[in-house]
Amino acid sequence: MPEASVAHFYDELADDYHLIYSDWDASIRRQGDALDALIGQARTAVLDCSCGIGTQAIGLALRGHSVTGTDLSPRAAARAVREAARRGVSLAAAAADMRRLPFPDGRFDSVVCADNSLPHLLTEQDVRAALTEMRRVLRPAGLLLVSTRPYEDLLRDRPTSTPPHVHRAAADGERTVTFQLWHWHDDGEHYDLEHFQLLPAGGEWRVKVRWTTYWALGQGRLADLVAKAGFVDPEWRMPQETGFFQPLLVARAGE
Ligand SMILES: C[S@@+](CC[C@H](N)C(=O)[O-])C[C@H]1O[C@@H](n2cnc3c(N)ncnc32)[C@H](O)[C@@H]1O
Repeated sequence: MPEASVAHFYDELADDYHLIYSDWDASIRRQGDALDALIGQARTAVLDCSCGIGTQAIGLALRGHSVTGTDLSPRAAARAVREAARRGVSLAAAAADMRRLPFPDGRFDSVVCADNSLPHLLTEQDVRAALTEMRRVLRPAGLLLVSTRPYEDLLRDRPTSTPPHVHRAAADGERTVTFQLWHWHDDGEHYDLEHFQLLPAGGEWRVKVRWTTYWALGQGRLADLVAKAGFVDPEWRMPQETGFFQPLLVARAGE
């Protein structure tokens, strides 16, 4: 799938993206707290290179970090800026591809790439390009935090759907329902994701369907690519340990 369509998928989803959470503000805080604990220092310079509408970027800004966000989707990045301002924190965010980051070498203390963003890159060459860019914009010994779905497990079963997720606007508010169908390619590693969103429409449901493609890159292979891109001590940290909802690959930029 050409990269323009990934930007299109998230541009189209930007206004509704918070509906995939039961309570987006609670997720912002929980995810920001977990990442902040891994950063382990106050007021650092953080780049979230797939910030989307700002779930992790706003969470980290609320913890006092100086956060810059970039994302392939201009609409998502623009919403991240607005949502940060509504919560009283400042976030500089703009559209950029993680394979070509518009920052000088060594500019950041940490780089975050969270919630299964990297697996939108469908070839080893593209993943290596992105990791090399993340390494370049980190200071020596700067921290890399990449979260993905637990693909080592998922590659065993190759699930074809996710359970429905219900979002209620308020205690007595209208509900929206989100779920996904996964269509695995013959190579057993890539899948097309069909994203369904059901919105209430006068007693019936209006259905929005969107498509995008992922590469289910196993945890061992991703750790190898991280090491090849110039990081040291890549280590997967699990949700029960970090409090973050996905496995996180943690590594340091080589000196
Ligand atoms: C599942 S969303 C997660 C967004 C955000 N981290 C969050 O949790 O709210 C994946 C994000 O990756 C972004 N993305 C995909 N490919 C990208 C690329 N090549 N460069 C930058 N961002 C990209 C998408 O635009 C999307 O916002």
